[in-house]
Amino acid sequence: MTHQDELKQLAGEAAVQFIEDGMVVGLGTGSTMKFMVNALGERVKKEHLSIVGVPTSERTKEQAHSLGIQTKAINEIDHIDLTIDGADQIDPDYQGIKGGGGAQLWEKIVAINSTKNIWIVDETKMADELGSFPLPLEVIPYGSNLLFSRLKKKGYHPVFRMNGDKYFLTDSDNYIIDLHLGHIKHPHELALELDQMTGIIEHGLFLDLVNTIIVGHKDGPEIIK
Ligand code: 5RP
Repeated sequence: MTHQDELKQLAGEAAVQFIEDGMVVGLGTGSTMKFMVNALGERVKKEHLSIVGVPTSERTKEQAHSLGIQTKAINEIDHIDLTIDGADQIDPDYQGIKGGGGAQLWEKIVAINSTKNIWIVDETKMADELGSFPLPLEVIPYGSNLLFSRLKKKGYHPVFRMNGDKYFLTDSDNYIIDLHLGHIKHPHELALELDQMTGIIEHGLFLDLVNTIIVGHKDGPEIIK
């Protein structure tokens, strides 16, 4: 395991204590979340917890089922008490970029419908400014080449995400375009602009959404907010 993975594991395992019996819990996606879901599986087994997981990807759903964690689809529940998810970059105002794993559409739907959101990250994700991590856009395939050209003309350095020689497909069968922006000076303005562009279903700017951040450091997890 790499050092970064060890820090992800620390954060993931620290988050599981926030889950209480009877909760409906949004389950994010990614390598940090894998550690959290493993730890949750152990708690469910040992403590016979009755929790319902709402997975944000097919990957997370499969992992949860393999560990005996009950899940429901988002349309089968009427509330989510708590969502735990990873993040790709977090700035000093606790704004974030997500979607490195291509799951940001389902992740954002789950996050905005959750009473509380916790992000779990290793310390390398904490940044002075967003943007050195490419900003993912989930886009509808129809017209995506023209959308790509518009993004290029704006100077947003778009790149289609690929899976070998095929387009990467999300769980909703859409494409991902990553914007290599370098810096995002005004995240709210950019979010508004992207929200208004036809063809973009969701972008990876997660603004004013998180309640608690758990950061894995080598000397232990830090809980922020
Ligand atoms: C997936 C995500 C992930 O939460 C994010 O990419 C962090 O992943 P990891 O824990 O593997 O570093 O947004 O769409």
